[in-house]
Amino acid sequence: MRTPYVGGNWKMNTTRASAATLARELTRSVARIGDACEVVIFPPFPYLLAAAASIGEASEGNHWPIKLGAQDCYHEASGAFTGEVSIAQLEDCEVSVILTGHSERRHVIGETDGLINQKTRAALQAGLECVLCIGETLDQRQAGETDAVNKRQLRAGLDGVSADEMRRVTIAYEPVWAIGTGKVATAEDAQTAHARCREVLAQMFDQPTAGSTRIMYGGSLKAANAPELLAQPDIDGGLVGGASLTPADFIPIVQAAAARAHRPA
Ligand code: PGA
Repeated sequence: MRTPYVGGNWKMNTTRASAATLARELTRSVARIGDACEVVIFPPFPYLLAAAASIGEASEGNHWPIKLGAQDCYHEASGAFTGEVSIAQLEDCEVSVILTGHSERRHVIGETDGLINQKTRAALQAGLECVLCIGETLDQRQAGETDAVNKRQLRAGLDGVSADEMRRVTIAYEPVWAIGTGKVATAEDAQTAHARCREVLAQMFDQPTAGSTRIMYGGSLKAANAPELLAQPDIDGGLVGGASLTPADFIPIVQAAAARAHRPA
């Protein structure tokens, strides 16, 4: 069963106060929607503890309705890695999900497929969930390389990951040209890319693993385009950037995801 899954990637936005408020408001709203959709938020590192405190308070002693995620991690356990943050340190801040391979880390910061794979494996080995982002640039799309890029990034990012560990992996297909640009893939194009990714997962692992792995769409996802995209058979949720910073924009996307049925694996 593939339960819909929506992530809010706050990137390098918010302040300590606004992060705490946003986490609190989202927790209350998502609690009202119930468990038809899983939700994770990725605040900036310095505000993880403030967000965790807000989620805890707003949950009033109940199970957390939203998970806390980290936008990045470092794969080494400890030591002389100035500026980096280990997975154990993130867990110590209540983080249970790690984002790896985001296009801004690939294309702005310069992370390689090899480093992304090390981070992904380290997160899984620590028992955490991982959301691995993949997707083609505009040049690659125009050159007809979308499927080849996705395949390469899936194979490299998931190298050495077991079928058992795949139960804690979500793929986020985010065409780079659609991120933060207001340009969105058509529902048909996104569906085709997702279905191809699922075929790659079936080749890499097996059919049941491919059938049960959730694949989110990301790139200018908004309340207005979410229902059509999320209705596609292989689109299991969304990774949201800009629209995740305001409850009025984010919650309708969660509602659209919750409205679709759980997909049989
Ligand atoms: P966007 O970002 O929704 O602002 O396009 C998506 C993402 O980068 O995950």
